[in-house]
Amino acid sequence: MNIKEEIIKAFHRKPGEFISGEELSQSCGCSRTAIWKHIEELRKDGYEVEAVRKSGYRLLAAPDRLSAEEVRAGLGTYRIGQKVLAHDSVISTQPLAHEAASKGAPEGTLVITEQQTGGRGRLGRPWHSPKGSGIWMSLIIRPEIPLSKTPQMTLLTAVVLAKTIWEETGVGPKIKWPNDIFIGDKKVSGVLTELNAESDRVNYLVIGIGINANMTSEDIPPELSAIATSLRIESGKPLKRIPFIQRFCENFEAEYDHYLREGFERVKMEWEQHSYTIGRWITVSTIQQTLEGKAIGLDEEGVLILEDTTGKRHKVYSADVNY
Ligand code: BTN
Repeated sequence: MNIKEEIIKAFHRKPGEFISGEELSQSCGCSRTAIWKHIEELRKDGYEVEAVRKSGYRLLAAPDRLSAEEVRAGLGTYRIGQKVLAHDSVISTQPLAHEAASKGAPEGTLVITEQQTGGRGRLGRPWHSPKGSGIWMSLIIRPEIPLSKTPQMTLLTAVVLAKTIWEETGVGPKIKWPNDIFIGDKKVSGVLTELNAESDRVNYLVIGIGINANMTSEDIPPELSAIATSLRIESGKPLKRIPFIQRFCENFEAEYDHYLREGFERVKMEWEQHSYTIGRWITVSTIQQTLEGKAIGLDEEGVLILEDTTGKRHKVYSADVNY
């Protein structure tokens, strides 16, 4: 048992209340001296804990830090986010998730970090990931689906992000095909899905998720300010990152389990409901060609359907989209 995590869980169960050393030692299965030592460690981690003789301990404030203990405390899932690998600063969470997955990390493992020095986006672009103000994370999943269906996992993730943003901030985001999350005309979040497979068997997927959470306008580099925003800028208040991550994991688990049982139909419907793309005139560039037309919707498999000026319909599997 992780004693620090158990203490945090106990504090979450009784917000604002004193918990006696005796009660903590019983629920954590250790001595009161051990509890005191772990409380000291929590203080070093930035927790403000009041200690009053005869009353016990009370949590006054938790640090705004992404720790495994905080994510797991009070998390209402059975696998997504149940294992968390938390870091302060890494080049990118993607290779760390690949490494963990190839060593057998269970489905639902989440790699999170406060900062990425070499964060990467789709199409080999860099992903600006400054310290403390974002959510930079990679989720490992192991769906038993054919390779051809794996792009559906990206669409599913975008739907879950849009829902979570709406629930946690009250701001209504839109999904730009396939997986950019927009508020108004600016991007607030992106998804990078990477696959490890052999012939037609999926070993695992690493779903990288970047969310501009608490950046202020000054934190956004000038070259990005016309196209990027943050949840804080859009909602007008700072985002509590831990409850956001927990809600994301819970929503992901519900959507993913439903998908595995029932198939893609619900994701398709929800994706279309949140879509920024459907109904717009767009230009898509693939390696082979550039197409222009109106985005009509997704087909049953999640492929984007584009109608050109002659009324001919085209399937767009993977491309860069311009509006
Ligand atoms: C995109 O919109 O281009 C995708 C951006 C994905 C960024 C996330 S942040 C966490 C994970 N680690 C990375 O290096 N990239 C993804």
